[in-house]
Amino acid sequence: MIPPRLGWRLPRVFAHRCGGALAPENTLAGLRIAARLGLRAVEFDVMLSADGSPWLLHDETLERTTNGLGRMCETRDAELCDLDAGLRRHPGFAGEAVPTLAAAARLCRQLGLQANVEVKPAAGFEALTGEVVGRCVRAFWAAGELPLVSSFSQVALAAARAAAPELPLANLYQRIPSDWLARLQESGALSLHCDALALDDDVLAEARARGIPVLCYTVNDPLLAAALFQRGVTAVFSDRIDCIGEA
Ligand code: G3P
Ligand code: MG
Repeated sequence: MIPPRLGWRLPRVFAHRCGGALAPENTLAGLRIAARLGLRAVEFDVMLSADGSPWLLHDETLERTTNGLGRMCETRDAELCDLDAGLRRHPGFAGEAVPTLAAAARLCRQLGLQANVEVKPAAGFEALTGEVVGRCVRAFWAAGELPLVSSFSQVALAAARAAAPELPLANLYQRIPSDWLARLQESGALSLHCDALALDDDVLAEARARGIPVLCYTVNDPLLAAALFQRGVTAVFSDRIDCIGEA
């Protein structure tokens, strides 16, 4: 099967976790700031609640980024609706909600933001999370360009692909493994994402020769961003969207 193509041109910078460091991570406030600063694209993390619904959250537990307690996979939708995602780390954003994937998709489309949806399964929920996110992305972006769907979990990506074969996929790693090409072909992914500090020049050269974009996280130093672009990296995920831009 020929891998689906991305219907939009990759930008140089993705706002990491919606709005980088300028707003609480994985919130609608972050999306608004990214759009206001002229970003073309954002990345965010998606995890399932106890009801099996997709929400924007990075950690398996709620404590770091919300005023909730306990495991996301054991928290019902009704409880998530009442949580505050601003209070704890960005008090100026007190009252900011934990968004559903549906709300994030709607706002991205309103703001004209393209997205990289990172499937972030809690341990043991890899296949279910991939399947739900795949199905929801297909439904929520039905009238627009599909986002790029990535995951550290090959199982989650395979499930997303089974649920919605038209989705453009990305393989996400800390360090890109030596068998990356076989994995890319097997998963039908079109881009490779890795930790900027673990990027290997030989892998980068081979990916470039094959026309495979390499994207790096998390790049908050403009000099590092410039060096990565110089080396041939296509795009970076950044928290510092106030000083790392498209130009
Ligand atoms: O998708 C790139 C990056 O977000 C991966 O790391 O932990 O910030 O989700 P993390
Ligand atoms: Mg992420």
